[in-house]
Amino acid sequence: MKLLFASAECAPFFKTGGLGDVIGALPKELAKKDIEVAVVLPLHKTMPAAYREQCEHIASFSVDVGWRNQFCGIERLQLNNVAYYFIDNLYYFNRDNLYGYYDDGERFAFFQLALIEMMQVVDYIPDIIHLNDFHTAMVPFLLNEKYHWIESYQSIRTVLTIHNIEFQGQYSPEVLADLFGVGDRRYHDGTIRYENDINFLKAGIVYADRVNTVSHSYAREIQTSEFGCGLEGILQQEKGKLSGIVNGLDYEINNPESDSALKTTYSLTDLNGKKKCKKELQEIMGLPIREDAPIIAVVSRLTHQKGFHLVLEELENLLQYDVQFVLLGTGDPAFEHQFQLISEWYPNKCSINITFDVTLAQKIYAGADIFLMPSRFEPCGLSQLISMRYGTLPVVHEIGGLKDTVEPYNPIEKTGTGFGFSLFTPYYMMEALKKAIHVYQLEKDVWKELMKNAMSQDFSWETSTEHYLSLYKEIYLKDGGKAEDKKDQPAAFATLWDGSYSSQRKHLVQRRR
Ligand code: GLC
Repeated sequence: MKLLFASAECAPFFKTGGLGDVIGALPKELAKKDIEVAVVLPLHKTMPAAYREQCEHIASFSVDVGWRNQFCGIERLQLNNVAYYFIDNLYYFNRDNLYGYYDDGERFAFFQLALIEMMQVVDYIPDIIHLNDFHTAMVPFLLNEKYHWIESYQSIRTVLTIHNIEFQGQYSPEVLADLFGVGDRRYHDGTIRYENDINFLKAGIVYADRVNTVSHSYAREIQTSEFGCGLEGILQQEKGKLSGIVNGLDYEINNPESDSALKTTYSLTDLNGKKKCKKELQEIMGLPIREDAPIIAVVSRLTHQKGFHLVLEELENLLQYDVQFVLLGTGDPAFEHQFQLISEWYPNKCSINITFDVTLAQKIYAGADIFLMPSRFEPCGLSQLISMRYGTLPVVHEIGGLKDTVEPYNPIEKTGTGFGFSLFTPYYMMEALKKAIHVYQLEKDVWKELMKNAMSQDFSWETSTEHYLSLYKEIYLKDGGKAEDKKDQPAAFATLWDGSYSSQRKHLVQRRR
């Protein structure tokens, strides 16, 4: 099986968040399983020189973006058995940030057209293209409606992963002709229309062979008006091809036994190092060195999505308890300002660090006791996985990936890997925090057990990769596959796939053949 991942970001080259981490990890893991994997990315200006220098220029051609004729260079880099193809165009990608420009629609229209045309130029024709988020979600539509005449592309199947449904790529219908060079039939018949715009993500949901998201709960939640951001209707319609797979965690980077960011490493069987990490953290943060006061930590983007309006509402209340509060992150300037203000009032209890610092983040995951993550919605979330791995118990809003990965403390059975609240209000968040503080201070043995439970959870990519492989095989083998790949497959794949086709998809596939 031959795969091509398409994404706007990918660690270690450039990333702004969890999407970059996933694209940095999953292809690498698949390559370990002898799958042929490539990743296609824009060549962003921020790519570190060390990687830039290793790239080999393999092709140049031009791409029509509507009436424009744009240069497209292809740089290739082989790393960890994955081939990375970078789409080079200075006009579109030589910018300080990855996103946030007035012409993002045009930039990612170019990227998608270029990556499709690239496959032929570099002779990498995958069996499956795995698209990620709206930046690449028009690819299945384009393969169907614009490039269907290219014979070698006709058997390519597509998987679209939604990492965050809030960002959809909504543009006026004129971009169909102006950027993609296609007619507006699919806008007028409603297929890719949302309100009076075209919507990249909706197009992806309708045209991709499979749609998945990064946790089971989020896959369910986005089919409701509370979380679907307007796309709940189309997701209900296409639910037969919608699934959820929880992201993994890079166990090599996030390992308390070997993390070079830590002064003292530690493990499940020897937790002494964690105490030293706590002491070091208190020193760095200028807080009193106290083993008995739980450190409640936050490492996050400071946004409404992450629930910081709740935290700000309760922070002063929380600081009345015998606790320390440590925050690392940047985001909404109003949030940054309010946190800083409160820390000035409570210098001995509260340390606010408005910055981005990867090493400090690891020190916080290791040195803290409680990790607060009250996201309003959370497709998967990574920080709760890291904190559990470091024995720092998460307090989470039980939603999306947080619900699927953190088992809330059960005071009867004394089980769990963290604490949860299901109603998204400051009061319930505070109740969960109070429960955590109580167990930390008064039930030390139970706390230790919970730490051990958390640390022994398996959130490795190994497990998630197996689920992705099954997903790919469902569409690949259904459509023929290769004899050698077919040999060991259980018959269940074919049955599952047949049963879950939506009628609209059937129509699309029939047309394509
Ligand atoms: C987005 C989501 C986050 C998820 C990540 C990777 O950033 O907000 O929950 O973990 O994508 O899938």
